[in-house]
Amino acid sequence: MYRIDIGIDLGTSNVRVFMRDKGVVIDQPAYVAFEEKTKNIIAVGSKAKRMLGKTPEGICVERPMKHGVISDYSLAERMIKAFVKNALTKRKIWGRPSICVCIPEGVTEVERRAVEDAVVRTGAKQVFILESAIAAAIGADMDITETYGHMIVDIGGGTTDIAVISAGGISEGMSLKCGGDDFTDALIRYVRRKYNVELGELTAEEAKEAVGSVMKRKNDISIEVKGKNLLSGLPVKLNLSADETVEAFEEVTTQIINAINSVLETAPPELINDISKEGLMLTGGGSHIAGMQKLIATRSQIKVVASEDAESMVALGTGLAGKYIMVQEEIRRLQMEEE
Ligand SMILES: Nc1ncnc2c1ncn2[C@@H]1O[C@H](COP(=O)(O)OP(=O)(O)OP(=O)(O)O)[C@@H](O)[C@H]1O
Ligand SMILES: [Mg+2]
Repeated sequence: MYRIDIGIDLGTSNVRVFMRDKGVVIDQPAYVAFEEKTKNIIAVGSKAKRMLGKTPEGICVERPMKHGVISDYSLAERMIKAFVKNALTKRKIWGRPSICVCIPEGVTEVERRAVEDAVVRTGAKQVFILESAIAAAIGADMDITETYGHMIVDIGGGTTDIAVISAGGISEGMSLKCGGDDFTDALIRYVRRKYNVELGELTAEEAKEAVGSVMKRKNDISIEVKGKNLLSGLPVKLNLSADETVEAFEEVTTQIINAINSVLETAPPELINDISKEGLMLTGGGSHIAGMQKLIATRSQIKVVASEDAESMVALGTGLAGKYIMVQEEIRRLQMEEE
């Protein structure tokens, strides 16, 4: 079994770091604040996110990841370095650490290499790369090496990773470039169109988490939000109801449901049989949107199981993947010998 000291879930919205024998020690938003001219880093994580939309001229707040892949290499490298350094203060590691990091299914070789290089530069002794869906399944304690169908749907911030897993590999999978943050963007667009009011990103995210739903609730609820009237330029308050969010989210919701159904349609029937017994496992922060579990179950006609600690599954899995990676490497070695 490989010893993994640090497991990193390099998410579009959040970075989570797992330390051997410690668990998830870092759970921070994937934001970096830096000086525009010098590119000097001012803050990373929550501190940087809090500065969003409030920075003085010359200071930028950005995310180095977009839709699950690195969009700004230099920022990503410095953000990962900062988090790894922080994690290493939580537990002493002798020598350089071995690190496992995950990537979405179907990324290009260049994108994969970019993640690997960024992690190597943090001073890692060894870097392992794992698909997010596999990591989520390991984190959820599924025995993925057995020949039995398991299904994972991880609704993250920028991606929805869908995978049918059996015998240690992904039998059918898709990484949709759409996730929880697209619900936030959809809400911003909806309010702009309907009320002529511009909402800030953090305000829209808060409203989404408080009342956002993908299915109508029995009793509608609402939240007061503050935005800027686009005609007068003045601050305004308005009440946003859960029913309105259902309407605002419709397009994004449909995209996710269609993707899940298309993976189910193409997966082999025997595996679908297994999955219908066990249920599809829903993970990722986006899975918390009210009604998501019920809607997927209704539209896909399959049992849906939500993990309690939905956001930590991937990080947990990257940290615990030592045995799985060793088995996979052994299989690959035997296949190469046969060829
Ligand atoms: N209670 C909640 N209700 C609704 N949405 C939520 C809730 N909690 C978190 N989210 C959303 O979940 C998303 C982040 O999920 P997660 O941390 O799993 O993403 P990530 O791993 O960073 O992204 P990705 O896997 O796409 O790279 C954000 O869009 C966030 O707004
Ligand atoms: Mg994720």
